[in-house]
Amino acid sequence: MSSKLIAPSILAADFANLQRDVEMVNESEADWFHIDIMDGVFVPNISFGMPVLQAIAQHAKKTIDVHLMIVDPDKYIKTFADLGSDVLTVHYEACTHLHRTLQAIKAEDMKAGVALNPHTNVNVLEDTIKDIDLVCIMSVNPGFGGQSFIENTYSKVKQLKDLITRKGASTQIEIDGGVTNKNAKQLVDAGADVLVAGSYVFKSNTQKETIKDLKAIANS
Ligand code: DX5
Ligand code: ZN
Repeated sequence: MSSKLIAPSILAADFANLQRDVEMVNESEADWFHIDIMDGVFVPNISFGMPVLQAIAQHAKKTIDVHLMIVDPDKYIKTFADLGSDVLTVHYEACTHLHRTLQAIKAEDMKAGVALNPHTNVNVLEDTIKDIDLVCIMSVNPGFGGQSFIENTYSKVKQLKDLITRKGASTQIEIDGGVTNKNAKQLVDAGADVLVAGSYVFKSNTQKETIKDLKAIANS
């Protein structure tokens, strides 16, 4: 079984010390940088935009996983590719022509991800799963860090894993929101491949140790 990945969410970093926090992730056992882009329309919050991502990308030495919580993501696919995104995830709920959006992301040589809000059933991806590199299951309502984990996520991950297996797809499953050492193992056992963790990592006094422990639990 391939190793399970940890993706610290920069939304929870100290923005006044962004380079320091990016270097911490570089030096840690984390695998990816998870970058949350919020537009204040699709979600009730605004995070940060292109100049900040550019600053992060200048220092980041690991995969850059961008999570777009914005309406009309098609407009910005090329921009995010040019900024160095490796994985670009759009919300199912924000895409009228999801299949076209996925092709456009891949045409820019990025991995194509689709995020599902807590109310969206995985079966909406029946007809596109083979075109999706990563499904991000939201285990909180998108918009804010530090929220508590929604327990229904476990069964959703299992349903998605079944769908991926049944269709012969090679899609990775990412979990985003409220991930801690308490739910990591159960998520991986249900089929998760990538665990995003924001506040759990950045609120820790021993951030690198926390990442290392989370990675060990996920791979135990
Ligand atoms: C929520 C974001 C998450 C968030 C996770 O809208 O998509 O990536 O940063 O933060 P925690 O781990 O604190 O729930
Ligand atoms: Zn996210």
